[in-house]
Formats: sequence, C-alpha cells, structure tokens
Amino acid sequence: MDGPLVNEAVLGRVKGWRPYVEAKLGFRNHWYPALFSRELEEGKPVEATLLGESILINRVHGVARAIRNRCLHRGVKFSRRLECYKPGTITCWYHAFTYDWKDGRLVDIITNPSSALIGKHKLQTYPVIEAQGLVFVFVGHEEPPALAADVPPGFLDADRTIHGKRRVVRSNWRLGVENGFDASHIFIHKGSPLCAGNDIALPLGFAPTQPGTGTRPSIGAPGPIGLYDLLGESAIPVFEGTIGGETVLEGHFGEKRVADNISIWLPGVLKVDPWPQEGMQQFEWYVPVDATTHIYLQTLGRVTASPAEAEAFRQEVDDKWVDLALDGFNDDDVWAREATEEFYADNDRGWVEERLFEADIAIVQWRKLASEHNRGIQRPENL
Ligand code: FES
Ligand SMILES: [Fe+2]
Repeated sequence: MDGPLVNEAVLGRVKGWRPYVEAKLGFRNHWYPALFSRELEEGKPVEATLLGESILINRVHGVARAIRNRCLHRGVKFSRRLECYKPGTITCWYHAFTYDWKDGRLVDIITNPSSALIGKHKLQTYPVIEAQGLVFVFVGHEEPPALAADVPPGFLDADRTIHGKRRVVRSNWRLGVENGFDASHIFIHKGSPLCAGNDIALPLGFAPTQPGTGTRPSIGAPGPIGLYDLLGESAIPVFEGTIGGETVLEGHFGEKRVADNISIWLPGVLKVDPWPQEGMQQFEWYVPVDATTHIYLQTLGRVTASPAEAEAFRQEVDDKWVDLALDGFNDDDVWAREATEEFYADNDRGWVEERLFEADIAIVQWRKLASEHNRGIQRPENL
C-alpha cells in the first residue's frame, strides 16, 4: 500500500524535480475545486478529502463555508453523523461541542454549557470561493492569492459558461496531469467515436523536431503559472503508424483541427482550446485526494451572450458532450492513468525506473516548473 510518505531512496535519486516527487499529496497553499455549486445545498454538509485533509463543506445562509472535518475534543469526524441544532452551527455527535461555520469558533458545548473551553478554541476553517459554478477551497495556511492566480487564463471570463462533471480516479494526481499534458498519449484515443463522429483530425502521436524545446512557460505575476505546449511549432504529427517501415496503423484524418492550444497550470489544471469543437474549451482538474486517488473534475466552456444561451449550452453539454467527450473520449484517459498507477505506487519506483523519450519533454518541463513555482508541499504532518 502506498502511503503519503515518499520513499527516501527514490528521493535521493531524483534529479531536477525532487519537490514534485515529494508532492505525492499535492501542493499546499493553492485553490482547488472541490465540487460543483449545484452539489452544495443549504444546510447539507458535504465531505471532501483534498490533499489528504478531510474537509466539510456547507452552504450557510447562501454562502459556501469549509471547516476541518475533525472535532477538537476527541478527533472524530463530524461527517460520521451530521448534527445541527441551530442554523450556522455544527454540533459534534459525540459530546456536543458546537462550532460556528463562519470562523470555526467553539461557541458552545451542549453537554457542559459552563465549560471554560467555550469561546477559546477554533476549528481550522478554509477560504472558499464560488466561481463559474464551482466551489474552490484554498488548502493551506498562507494568505490566499486571488483565485485568478490558480486557474487557466480565460476560465473566469464573465461571459464564459462552464459546465461539467467530476469523478474519482484511482491514480495519484500527477499521473492525471501527466496524462493530460502528454503529447504522445493521444495514441490511446485512436478509434475514439468522438473523432469519427465529428470529423476531427487526430494523429497517432507527435515527433519532436527540435530537441529541448516543446513548451513555453508563463510565469508572470500575479499568475497563473503554467506552460503552453508548442506541438504545432516543434513536432510533426504522425498519421501513419509504421513498424520497421511497414504501415500497420493510421491516425484519424478529419477536416476539423482542434486542440491547437494546450496548456497546464499550477496546481494541476489543463486547458485544451478549442475542444471538442471550435468555440469550446475543456478545463480539467486533477485534484489530489490521497496518495493513490484524485478527483477528475472535467468542465467545458463556451462564450455565451445571455442567460438563455448559457442554459442552452449547459443542456448541450449534458445531452451530447458528456457522453461523447467527457465520458466517451476521456474514459480512455482515466483507464490509462489507473493502469499507470501500479508502477509509481510500488514504493515510488516509477519515478526512477521510468525511461522517458523525446516527446516527454513537456512532462519534464512541467515537473521542473511545478517544483520551482509551487507554494508548498503537502506533508503528512499537516493531515
Ligand atoms: S469528540 Fe466531539 S464533542 Fe467529543
Ligand atoms: Fe487524452
């Protein structure tokens, strides 16, 4: 079983991106989408594990709030049996310590109203922002930056409508990022109904033409910090699959060119533009849950001109694109990540035994960028 601690022998052998390998549970002091706003109802707390921390999220008087899901008294999870006797508070099911959702303050103890502890202790709370139909939680202790520092460019545009789904994937979060930003992984999508049904051109892979290039960083303050893939400029798409000179496979020749612009952003969110067709973008997060699991939060976006158009777009995503793209196409990715997990989870051996090739330059550059620009590594002592 793969725990949150990283194998020391492996760490000693990793060159160039050691902090990234240490970040098995993700990077602290970043904003992460925990769920969709539509999933959060007034007075109905939802448990979410982010970066190994069990967090309880609730809508209180219309405002999204998040607290540590662990009572100060004996450390039990409130979520084992949710109890609330007054709006805006949560009462622990065990001995009735009662806390305020807003600031985590211990406001009363039903079983001992004269306790000296009352008013003197606070549960950890987490900053929360709702934007574009998502609930973002800031996991860390530092002062949070603006949300715009942690989401891809364009995601927060006021005229962009965002809609999607989330699911649990049984792989470390980094295998999610590296699957998404991996140029050659499109080999797994050959034969996808999305390409055939929509006349999309999809090669079998990309052969880099200029060693050492491959991405362009974007690291200007106030962020976000990320990398653009430069496939179009520095690689040749491979449509004809050969072995020893003999053609054995073909990519999908289609009229439509999509995915011109692919970029990855800290703390682990991919933007594909356009996708799955002209005028739309995919924004997808790989949110660390624990050492071997991440939440794959997939969204599609489009600029819309009115509330009616926005609603029509959401309906189109539900009726068409979930089936074809977010499930149909991306199921290949989920499958691949879960199939990769075994090697990396086995005492972290994958990080030193992998043999990367030319097209992995984008992954290497992402690892280095993430190592240098993250705001902190999640460590077991924070859990
Ligand atoms: S464990 Fe929560 S009140 Fe005792
Ligand atoms: Fe993919």
